[in-house]
Amino acid sequence: MTTPVIQLQGVTRVYASGENRVHALRGIELEVNAGEMVAIMGASGSGKSTLMHILGCLDKPTGGRYLLHGQDVTGLTPDQLAYIRNRQIGFVFQSFNLIGNLTAWENVALPLIYAGVPRREMQARAIAALQQVGLEGREHHRPNQLSGGQQQRVAIARALVNDPAIILADEPTGALDTRTSVEVMAIFQELHREKGLTVVIVTHEPDIAAYCRRLVRVRDGQIVADEDIQQPRQAEQELAAQPAGEEKA
Ligand SMILES: Nc1ncnc2c1ncn2[C@@H]1O[C@H](COP(=O)(O)OP(=O)(O)OP(=O)(O)O)[C@@H](O)[C@H]1O
Ligand SMILES: [Mg+2]
Repeated sequence: MTTPVIQLQGVTRVYASGENRVHALRGIELEVNAGEMVAIMGASGSGKSTLMHILGCLDKPTGGRYLLHGQDVTGLTPDQLAYIRNRQIGFVFQSFNLIGNLTAWENVALPLIYAGVPRREMQARAIAALQQVGLEGREHHRPNQLSGGQQQRVAIARALVNDPAIILADEPTGALDTRTSVEVMAIFQELHREKGLTVVIVTHEPDIAAYCRRLVRVRDGQIVADEDIQQPRQAEQELAAQPAGEEKA
């Protein structure tokens, strides 16, 4: 038996805002094995982003334990968490979070600056990551010279550049049209299938969750359902069956 990549044991997260205490997570039990592709769904305010921040070591639980590759990260300092985050986890957000006055490759290279990689190697690795997401030829474009889908692919390349084991994506297709969303899901499916990456995607669109192999539902800070998806949609096939510019109105 192999150790799960992610183990949450009784994880709670309480936000204190003024007089109020918001119980955003109320005892989450979750195990994710290496190479899984998991969708997380739930209503607005149900705790999905809070859960992702904890999974990504951007935030710490108020209670319970988080084991990442079997290592308890619950008690680590912010610096130690940043170290782990930088090496093991790639993040993708709904709003791309690119820096406007940097080129595509410079945006992708940002995580390498913190890792102290020499500039020449940084550029080579950033360009390789851009190739992985189908953006060769766009290395020197700035975000405002790219489409939304291309910007999200730059953000995925940035998430990949440190060769993480886990990709966490919070509403990665939330700002994209349907076809572009399928293109982005094709990239996640390829990373999952070809590179064995563990992928966790928050979405409120059932059509997007259907590209994953497992669906976890969250309500009021608790997991209320967790099931395998029997026949995931195949983004690559769908794109091939309906070439760009031919989608139905
Ligand atoms: N920094 C914070 N301080 C106080 N309360 C917070 C904070 N962040 C989130 N919350 C609260 O915690 C609960 C869960 O929020 P969270 O952002 O995890 O929800 P979500 O499922 O991601 O929602 P959405 O689908 O709208 O993105 C909500 O009630 C929210 O108001
Ligand atoms: Mg959210």
